Amino acid sequence: MNTPLRQFALQAACAVLVLSLIWPYFGFQAGAIPWAEASFVIGFLAFTVACFTRQPPWWRLIHALFAPLVWAVSQWSIDPGWFLLAFILLLLVYRGALTGQVPLYLSNSETVDALENLLSGREDLRFADLGAGIGSILLPLARRFPKGQFAGVENAPLTWLWGRWRCRAQPNLDWRWGNYWALGLSRFNVVYAFLSPAPMAELWQKVKAELPVGSLFISNSFPVPDVAPDEVIEVDGRSGRTLFCYWM
Ligand SMILES: C[S@@+](CC[C@H](N)C(=O)[O-])C[C@H]1O[C@@H](n2cnc3c(N)ncnc32)[C@H](O)[C@@H]1O
Repeated sequence: MNTPLRQFALQAACAVLVLSLIWPYFGFQAGAIPWAEASFVIGFLAFTVACFTRQPPWWRLIHALFAPLVWAVSQWSIDPGWFLLAFILLLLVYRGALTGQVPLYLSNSETVDALENLLSGREDLRFADLGAGIGSILLPLARRFPKGQFAGVENAPLTWLWGRWRCRAQPNLDWRWGNYWALGLSRFNVVYAFLSPAPMAELWQKVKAELPVGSLFISNSFPVPDVAPDEVIEVDGRSGRTLFCYWM
């Protein structure tokens, strides 16, 4: 079971447990269920289980707050359609977070400068960005290296559309809709990824199997576990972004 499913199961199990106790109790007395108190008990129980099962700290916080927040928001009597709309919008932008634990956050201009320095003087540049976001890396690099070929693949619909619009007039940039796991890497000699810790071990297997000898794999912020990078570039002390470079 992947992490979001496991967390969902944990929260749901606590909610079902608490409700299965208080529902008959108040039902037999023909009394109203105290939803506020019930939500805090669910939150407390979920937090406790999350601690005992050693979930990451941010998940413990989410488990503690989820049910109380659901209760609090239900007090505002907001039309459920708005929640559906918010859910759809979030899904259109953050699909990667749900399906592969890779949310959207963007590379900054300091990273573009660092990549330009790293790649300057390279002939025959064939660059791919796996999970290209809105083209924050690809578009400026494609402008700075007009002779290079650039490709980006993105699978969150709204993010892809926004990137498609931004990159529409860049002739050396191939902006694709799709899944980076399905993208063949053998045509590229530089592959850039700014993802999350979750896919790095598996991605490394793909990169090793497909990238030609002499090519470069660059991961922003998330090193490949148990593999020493050939070069580490500290991009910007303030944001703590680091480029981990691996030569094939
Ligand atoms: C952290 S963002 C990086 C965006 C961009 N590369 C940058 O540096 O600004 C990661 C992106 O990968 C996308 N993504 C996640 N899983 C993906 C997948 N399996 N296939 C394609 N894109 C994916 C997300 O939607 C998100 O836009």
